[in-house]
Order: sequence, then C-alpha cells, then structure tokens
Amino acid sequence: MDFASDNSSGASPQVLQAVLAANAGYAAPYGVDDWTRAAQERLSDVFERDCVMFLVATGSASNALALAALTPPWGAIFCHHDAHVMGDECGAPEFYTAGAKLVGVDGSDGKIDPAALRATLAAFPRGLVKQVQPAALSLSQATESGRLYEPTEIAALTAIAREAGIRTHMDGARFANAVAALAVAPADMTWRAGVDVLSLGASKNGTLACEAVVFFDEALAADMAFRRKRAGHTLSKGRFLGAQMCAWLEDGHWLELARHANAQAAALADGLAQAGARLPWTREANEVFAILPDHADAALQAAGARYYRWSAGRLAPELRPREGEAFVRLVTSFETTPAEVERFVDIVSGAGKG
Ligand SMILES: Cc1ncc(COP(=O)(O)O)c(C=O)c1O
Repeated sequence: MDFASDNSSGASPQVLQAVLAANAGYAAPYGVDDWTRAAQERLSDVFERDCVMFLVATGSASNALALAALTPPWGAIFCHHDAHVMGDECGAPEFYTAGAKLVGVDGSDGKIDPAALRATLAAFPRGLVKQVQPAALSLSQATESGRLYEPTEIAALTAIAREAGIRTHMDGARFANAVAALAVAPADMTWRAGVDVLSLGASKNGTLACEAVVFFDEALAADMAFRRKRAGHTLSKGRFLGAQMCAWLEDGHWLELARHANAQAAALADGLAQAGARLPWTREANEVFAILPDHADAALQAAGARYYRWSAGRLAPELRPREGEAFVRLVTSFETTPAEVERFVDIVSGAGKG
C-alpha cells in the first residue's frame, strides 16, 4: 500500500521495452536521433498543431527552463502560493531564470483566483524601476491540492495575463491525469486556452525519467537549446528520452495509464468517504486528501501503508482537522491495484469500528 507519491511507481513495461529496443546499434547523440524526432511528431499530433519540444529528465528542470524562456532576470512570475515551482524546487526557477522573483497569488484549492491575479498584477506596475517586472503566469494542472482547472478557467486566467502583457506556463506534472479526468482535448487545455509553454510530465505516469518542455509559440523556444545544454539536461544518449516519450504517447498509452490511476483514486475517495473520513478537497484526478482519525492513521502505519501527512495550513479554517485527527495526502499511480485500495479502506473502516 504505497500512496506516498506517483513517483513511487516504476515504469510502464511498454516504455521499458521501447528503451530496450532503442538500445540496438548506434544513434546520433544529444537529441538529434530518430526517436526524438518521432516523439516530436507524436506530440504535434497530440496537440493538433506544430509545437517545439525539448526533452529533459526531471519535472523541476522542465518547469525552471520553461520559465526561464519567459522572463528576464528582473521579471516576476505569478503562481499560486502552494505551487511546486514556489516551494518544492529548491529555488530552481530562481536559479535558471538568473534571479526572477516568484510571486504567490491567492485562490482556494490550489487554483489561482482571477480577481486575486488581477490585484497581484496591479501591485507590479510596469516601468517602476524599484520593482521586478511582470513576466509570466504559471498554472499547475493538476494543482497541488489535486484540483483541476476547466479549460474555460484556464482561458480566463491567460486572458488576464495577456492583458498584462505576460505569457503563461503550465506545470503539467500531472497533465495526463488532468486530460484523462476532464476528457478534453490536450489542445483545449493548453494553446487553445492561451497557454504558451507546457511542462509535460511523464515520469509520474509511466516513464523512467522523461519530461517535455512543449512550446506552442516557436519564437519562445529560440534560446532553449542553449538553456537546456547549459543546464546539463541535453542528454548525450538522448535517444532513450525520445524512446520513452514515443512509447508513452503511442496509441494513447499515456491516457490509459492516467485513467487507471484516476480510477483508483476515485475508488479510494469513495471508500474513505463511506468509512467516515472527510475529504476537504474534491478528488478530481489521482490525488486524495483525507482527514482521518488518529487511530486509523496509526492502524494504517502499523499495516505498513505509506503516505504523507499534509500541511493543514493549506486548508480553509473551517475544513481543518480537529484534535485527534490527521490530514493526509494519498496519491495513486498507474501501478496502484484495486486490492491495495480495498485494504487501505478496510483498515480505516475497521479502525472506525474498533
Ligand atoms: C506539481 C509538480 N510539479 C513538478 C514536479 C517536479 O518533478 P521532479 O520531482 O521530477 O523534479 C512535481 C513532483 O513532485 C510536482 O508534483
């Protein structure tokens, strides 16, 4: 029972087989190989337009390099207070942008509130030399609270960004889960809704280590080859990144994996709610946030279940755990089994009866 992270899962056998197949013979290094070219074509098909893709090995590099393409060192990047780029990347965005400032924006459930975005932007007037200058908006899809933006909500936020003369980045570490959950076209959730650059995550959902920075505006990608090389993310054996991305996208495999993860999260959320747990944020993709009695938490720990306790500070005051309760985050993956979910729920139900 491992619900600590979708990073706890391994890689999809189809992806592994593709890596093995790509191992045969010689191939041009540094990402000019046939697999990377094929991945680029596949991504353009998925997004229904030409796009420019750069593969890297981690989500943090993907976010930081994408943001660096959107901002000067004196720029401001607007993101939710809880965004991964804000608090969980050890300053990589600041490092790769050569010092741009991340500015937190309010909103419930990890989603940026449009009025709060307008108000925050207004506090950064253009031309005021004392202050960093508005440069980019970064949205996480899914958010750090496991919630999703509908394409119309994304479009509303990117319109505000455009009005302010700034571009939009999307942290899509769980983009596949979002597409599978909302059943919308990837294009509708990105460029058709005004997103300029997407950090498309694949490692949490079936690859070994492969993430794509996808530019919908080619002009923004002009310096990216240099940025990526300078960042040490231009892999000499780039064919293995290309092979992973190709296999992941082939015949909708990425969405099949994500649909499985989402379905397990749905079963987990339903089971926990029936067992009496409170779910302060609606489960939409592959993350479940639950408030459990301490004795259920103890029984789960004793049974070897893995998950993280989460910060209740992120919850609205009326939703926070009371004395004797634990707030936890549970993440499912393409490898989560119905039996794991059932056992977890059974333990919580049993603890309730005990
Ligand atoms: C929302 C989000 N963005 C980005 C990342 C970064 O991925 P990595 O750990 O590969 O750097 C993560 C990983 O947990 C994440 O949850």
